[in-house]
Amino acid sequence: MTSTVPNAVEHTDEQQPPITMFGPDFPYAYDDFLAHPAGLGQIPATEHGTEVAVIGGGLSGIVAAYELMKMGLKPVVYEADRIGGRLRTVGFDGCDPSLTAEMGAMRFPPSSTALQHYIDLVGLQTRPFPNPLAEATPSTVVDLKGESHYAETLADLPQVYRDVADAWARCLEEGADFSDMNRALRERDVPRIREIWAKLVEKLDNQTFYGFLCDSEAFKSFRHREIFGQVGFGTGGWDTDFPNSILEILRVVYTEADDHHRGIVGGSQQLPLRLWEREPEKIVHWPYGTSLASLHEGGEPRPAVTRLNRTAGNHITVTDANGDIRTYRAAIFTAQSWMLLSKIACDDSLFPIDHWTAIERTHYMESSKLFVPVDRPFWLDKDEETGRDVMSMTLTDRMTRGTYLLDDGPDKPAVICLSYTWCDDSLKWLPLSANERMEVMLKSLGEIYPKVDIRKHIIGNPVTVSWENEPYFMGAFKANLPGHYRYQRRLFTHFMQDRLPEDKRGIFLAGDDISWTAGWAEGAVQTALNAVWGVMHHFGGATDPGNPGPGDVYDDIAPVELPE
Ligand code: ARG
Repeated sequence: MTSTVPNAVEHTDEQQPPITMFGPDFPYAYDDFLAHPAGLGQIPATEHGTEVAVIGGGLSGIVAAYELMKMGLKPVVYEADRIGGRLRTVGFDGCDPSLTAEMGAMRFPPSSTALQHYIDLVGLQTRPFPNPLAEATPSTVVDLKGESHYAETLADLPQVYRDVADAWARCLEEGADFSDMNRALRERDVPRIREIWAKLVEKLDNQTFYGFLCDSEAFKSFRHREIFGQVGFGTGGWDTDFPNSILEILRVVYTEADDHHRGIVGGSQQLPLRLWEREPEKIVHWPYGTSLASLHEGGEPRPAVTRLNRTAGNHITVTDANGDIRTYRAAIFTAQSWMLLSKIACDDSLFPIDHWTAIERTHYMESSKLFVPVDRPFWLDKDEETGRDVMSMTLTDRMTRGTYLLDDGPDKPAVICLSYTWCDDSLKWLPLSANERMEVMLKSLGEIYPKVDIRKHIIGNPVTVSWENEPYFMGAFKANLPGHYRYQRRLFTHFMQDRLPEDKRGIFLAGDDISWTAGWAEGAVQTALNAVWGVMHHFGGATDPGNPGPGDVYDDIAPVELPE
């Protein structure tokens, strides 16, 4: 099992429809929209070839650009760093190029069905990701307060861990109608989803994750809360999220965003890279054989945006790092929205003041990772005394927090993610170089595995990242704080521009941090599709009546509004 939450969320009953990232805030079937043969909509022929700026070449920007191109528009993609954004796969100096590390996204839940559409489209394969206690994980070690426990399933851990898992299930049931929402999501019962969620948004927007636990009878024990914080649900320790809004956590557990994860074989960055090169079979206006690469000079995106102005005729004027200035009737902004406050000089008139407030208040999580290449999956060697794996996927309260063992079959070089951390745990790494980080990690792991000499297996230099230290990111993923629901709603619904004053239209926000589920690629795809609908509508286009888009059904499923 992947999840430490028992029964309700497990795929036990094959008859039940699967859980998908369908709502709860905006229960729109992006997967059906993408699968429909009528496509995503049409723009008037007079607009064919019109340029649209797409700022940011991460997954959201590339998906948006790809779909705009298919409609006959001419996306002009700007990318400050490299195509892929936080889908960033890197190699190790001097090692076989097939050995890679995922500096950003590394694991994707099957519930992200809009993302899956694009994974399938470009022909990528996925395989189970070795999360704590997951089926694909040979063994897991939970090491807290200097005490280690070896487990193949949750049942192997001491009773207190099962008590904590039960407490979480009870807490969700009592405080957040878990099984009712679970059923409604499976059945895509929109009225019920909205009814349950409206009540919870109103009740819980002011509540932190930690406060929600404390309010529950099930979590009266400090020790249980503490263990839960370290071991958590799904992928493990979530205590760095304790100060965040509980609504953020509920979205994750309801939609199984942290369960049954799979990795992309060969690296996740291939997805945006393949979309960039892909020549769609169905394309309007452009000749067959057109791709995003072929529409861009030298096959490369334009460089970083330095300036965004609203100019005469309500146009968006984009200045880039080469000093090139171009004016567009529409633009999609997909980078981390803090870039609009710092790296990019912006006109106030780009957005209404309430949207600026929402951008300013956006809260990002820090995140660091460090990977080393090793000669082989030595962790599968057996300890002579115990018969156990000599080393395991490791969750600990030491500096490393999460250690992931990534093999590609016996006797082949493999990779260890020595540490993956969030927030304060990530900031602790910030002043250290890659080698200094590795030394501290090896020391922590040495205390857990005194008999294992990890160092002798390392065949190359470590690679590391702290997303908060990346100038074009300034953080890993958004995480709303209590009281942020209104801000989040403004950002997500910004694509519905008929509601905005006329002089505030034409620039569309998209990307992970605009979505309801930041930190999951699905939200990047969903918000890209909203922006594509917004641009199509802006140019006087429409969807096929058989395949209404997110903006067409907006009024029926709009996110709950809290009084201002
Ligand atoms: N999906 C990301 C992962 O699998 C983490 C996103 C976490 N988001 C959060 N608010 N903590 O590691």
